[in-house]
Amino acid sequence: MKTYVLNEAGSAEQLQLVQLEKPTPNANEVLVKVKALSINPVDIKTRIGKSLYSQLREEGPVILGWDISGTVEAVGSEVKNFRVGDDVFGMINFPGNGKAYAEYVTAPEAHLTKKPKSVPHEEAAGATLAALTAYQVLKRHVKPNDHVLIHSAAGGVGHFAVQIAKILGANVTAITSGKNTAFVKSLGADTIVDYTIQPFEDVIKDQDFALETLSGENLKRTIKVIKKGGGIVTLPSGGIDDEVTKLANEKGINVAFEMVESNGNDMQQIAEWLENGKLKTHIFEVYPFDRLIDAHKQIETGKTRGKVVVAI
Ligand SMILES: NC(=O)c1ccc[n+]([C@@H]2O[C@H](COP(=O)([O-])OP(=O)(O)OC[C@H]3O[C@@H](n4cnc5c(N)ncnc54)[C@H](OP(=O)(O)O)[C@@H]3O)[C@@H](O)[C@H]2O)c1
Repeated sequence: MKTYVLNEAGSAEQLQLVQLEKPTPNANEVLVKVKALSINPVDIKTRIGKSLYSQLREEGPVILGWDISGTVEAVGSEVKNFRVGDDVFGMINFPGNGKAYAEYVTAPEAHLTKKPKSVPHEEAAGATLAALTAYQVLKRHVKPNDHVLIHSAAGGVGHFAVQIAKILGANVTAITSGKNTAFVKSLGADTIVDYTIQPFEDVIKDQDFALETLSGENLKRTIKVIKKGGGIVTLPSGGIDDEVTKLANEKGINVAFEMVESNGNDMQQIAEWLENGKLKTHIFEVYPFDRLIDAHKQIETGKTRGKVVVAI
């Protein structure tokens, strides 16, 4: 099967298309013929030698990728919920070794769910790591009528977070740049702040919760707009330093880093929302498999609206 192997940590050109043997599923795994996969900032961070790179390197040739949609081609002896021919999607083995940049991938059945027939593989593949992140964080921290702030609201995580916060009954304030305000409005945001016109802390206050995507100064400024007793989840790792802790303690709010985890039950909720139209994947661009390197370069710009998907 065709697979992208990362020769060594570095530029996107280090991703090389090679032929490898198809993997064999373990007892609790399925073998999926991949129809579409999506790319995330963690793919870039790992490619350049950060994030999960050392962990993957220890386990042999580095094959990136976690987000797939495809068709079950074989099932392990203990698999209960899937049969050959089922269309499935999910985020495989995260944070671990997903090996999804390939024509075939094995996945624990517990990480997948069935793809609704009405949802194309490209949209399903996009609604995996980014959608799971938004859902797992927001379901832990948001109650109906909460005032919720979403940073990078047009991005992969952000565009799902705006929609899911609305599904959960929150009042949503979204931060984005001017070119994306109409898009973010279409996702259901109640209030939109264009960060290129004014500092968000000049116009936002008393939020119950914020989903923070940039860390550094952005995280410190976000603390100012959260009310006492409220919280922030910051998504980039390593952003909570002594100064952040001090500011949060002074304000009486909780700041935490949380990491998305593979979970087929959470995928099932996302599948239901995709099927009934409450949740929609916005696709920035679909690249063919032989242009996966260009898909990496697009995510690396940090300016993608919605999701970048690769079709096989
Ligand atoms: N902890 C976890 O489990 C977890 C899970 C998922 C993602 N993450 C992390 O969360 C971050 C966001 O992920 P993502 O997938 O949403 O990324 P993404 O899709 O690449 O985000 C792109 C968006 O970020 C916005 N943006 C870029 N620079 C900005 C700035 N200076 N101020 C405000 N917005 C800015 C852009 O909107 P504009 O063009 O409108 O500015 C763009 O739409 C990444 O660091 C990622 O690694 C962590």
